[in-house]
Amino acid sequence: MKGLDRRLRLRHLAYGLAGLALAGGLVAWAGLVNIGASSGHWSVTNVALHWVMRNAVRTYALLEPAPPAGLDEAARVRRAAGHFEAACVFCHGAPERPSPLLAARMTPPPPPLTHVAEHWGARELFRIVRHGVKYTGMPAWIALGREDEVWDMVAFLKALPAMDDAAYRRAALGPQGPEPTADTALAGCVRCHGRDGGSDGGAFPVLAGQSEAYLAASLAAFASGRRASGVMQFAVDGLEEAELARLARYYAGLPGLGEAPPAAETASPATATAAPGTGGGGGPAAGPGAWGLEIIARGLPAEGVPACAGCHGPSSARNPAYPRLGGQDAAYLANQLRLMKAEARGGGPYQRVMQVIAGRLPEQATDADAAAYAGRPAGPAPAARPD
Ligand code: HEC
Ligand code: HEC
Ligand code: HEC
Repeated sequence: MKGLDRRLRLRHLAYGLAGLALAGGLVAWAGLVNIGASSGHWSVTNVALHWVMRNAVRTYALLEPAPPAGLDEAARVRRAAGHFEAACVFCHGAPERPSPLLAARMTPPPPPLTHVAEHWGARELFRIVRHGVKYTGMPAWIALGREDEVWDMVAFLKALPAMDDAAYRRAALGPQGPEPTADTALAGCVRCHGRDGGSDGGAFPVLAGQSEAYLAASLAAFASGRRASGVMQFAVDGLEEAELARLARYYAGLPGLGEAPPAAETASPATATAAPGTGGGGGPAAGPGAWGLEIIARGLPAEGVPACAGCHGPSSARNPAYPRLGGQDAAYLANQLRLMKAEARGGGPYQRVMQVIAGRLPEQATDADAAAYAGRPAGPAPAARPD
């Protein structure tokens, strides 16, 4: 008797559920579900969606990598702020600039981010910024493989609560502020690279004096997605090939980078190359500067690494499409070598050859080479800045 009762109840439950699903399907089929953003969500829907979102972010954040050292570096904040101004502000607003009118009409509306770092940990912010949030309009990072760029953005979000409007503007627009120029394409670049193509304290690669062919090939590679960068792919999106070529010519024409490491100009060849020998067969013990210069001049034959100078100059046979590295920012160079090693960078038509070399470069040699090529900490001297 009891068994029959239970079977009957189960059958009624099944009919009930099927009926509900059918009714729901009919309502949707008849077009009666209001998907208009103007009406917002019911508060119960709002609470439920945010509950799901918060739980998912917390759980999936456990799968993300731990934050890197030096997350509070000023260069990280500066780099991400320039991108935030162009790619996030039109939805989230900025300090002392309330939520933009159009974004406020989204369902759900993008929240202001000025205090977001007080609610989320670094890894959770990393998860949100890298992967976005489904069904809400919050986009994923353009170059998913560029974890370093996402960490830059997390560094910026963590610095945001302490920023007033002036500090934000300095970080997002650079020391020159908004660019009063009719050249809108260049104005977009100046926010980060300045008019002088300098590194602004190690935040950006030096463009001034870089080979024009290399700059043009790099911009084309960003535009086609063959070189991965959420920041640069966004910056060139929608620009015509002819405009990119013109911008490459502009930055290449400024005084800046050279072919040889600047240190080599002052150090005598004897100190540059003899030091590793006296240090017992070369290696980091001989001092990174000297060891770096040694690798640039001779390579690391045991590892199958050719002399960098053979391609990056100075050499009359250098392919003009190969970049100049003399005076480039050290942190930028080291990061690019690591990205190439991880096959996460891509690049112009000749990047394969460099990826293979970077893959063979021992870890300490990466920093030694970057430091030797940088020779000095930042980009061109301020004297190089036009009017
Ligand atoms: C098209 C509009 C849009 C753009 C552009 C956008 N977001 Fe969002 N973002 C949203 C929306 C909508 C939410 C709310 C998601 C939710 O309610 O779950 C959100 C949520 C977030 C959150 C979580 C906020 C919280 O309080 O939980 C962070 C962090 C964030 N966005 C960062 C960024 C960053 C950084 C950028 C730029 C790279 C960006 N967003 C670009 C729409 C946008
Ligand atoms: C939001 C800041 C930002 C803006 C705006 C920006 N850039 Fe960049 N640019 C960067 C960063 C950061 C990098 C380093 C990319 C990387 O790490 O892969 C870079 C890299 C480059 C490179 C590659 C340099 C090299 O040595 O390989 C070129 C060329 C370049 N930018 C040109 C431009 C031009 C031209 C514009 C304007 C259309 C522009 N950038 C706008 C931040 C910016
Ligand atoms: C066979 C030629 C060749 C040799 C040798 C070579 N490179 Fe390169 N390197 C290239 C090319 C080509 C690129 C440009 C890749 C691209 O298209 O983005 C490049 C790019 C780079 C970059 C990125 C520059 C930027 O502005 O983003 C770094 C850093 C670099 N090389 C370091 C080195 C170091 C260090 C060595 C020596 C250990 C070396 N290279 C040896 C050909 C070479």
